[in-house]
Amino acid sequence: MSHISDEELLAKAYAATENSYVPYSGFPVGAALLLDDGTVVTGCNVENASYGLTNCAERTAVFRMVAEHGGNHKIAACAIVGRKAAPCHPCGACRQVLHEFGCKRVIVESERPENGDLGAPASIDFEKILPYAFGPEDL
Ligand code: THU
Repeated sequence: MSHISDEELLAKAYAATENSYVPYSGFPVGAALLLDDGTVVTGCNVENASYGLTNCAERTAVFRMVAEHGGNHKIAACAIVGRKAAPCHPCGACRQVLHEFGCKRVIVESERPENGDLGAPASIDFEKILPYAFGPEDL
């Protein structure tokens, strides 16, 4: 099992923003998933000239998880960092995709300190992120 702290997972999400492809918004976002076996999978946002095809950092991370590790993992936690805004909460589409793989917690920065350092982690239970969710268990 994993011994990674929420602070460390948040730092991995921040590091993932290095690869964000954001020529249109200039708003880099990174996500880091902690899987049930302790594996960490990161993702960044990938924009497109056809704006609506943009893929958020969280969904990039989930799709990478499936591509690299298969679809049988559960997500223990998803940390999210937006370089230009803290906290950066997941959009509605990403909430639904995270729910598909049993995401239990979302970790965001509580606030960004004045010195620009990464903020302290704030953990939000997934039931609060997406109440009354529709998922695989409902089919
Ligand atoms: N974005 C994410 O990657 N994740 C979020 O949680 C919020 C929004 C991206 C999409 C787009 O590339 C940019 O942030 C501005 O919306």
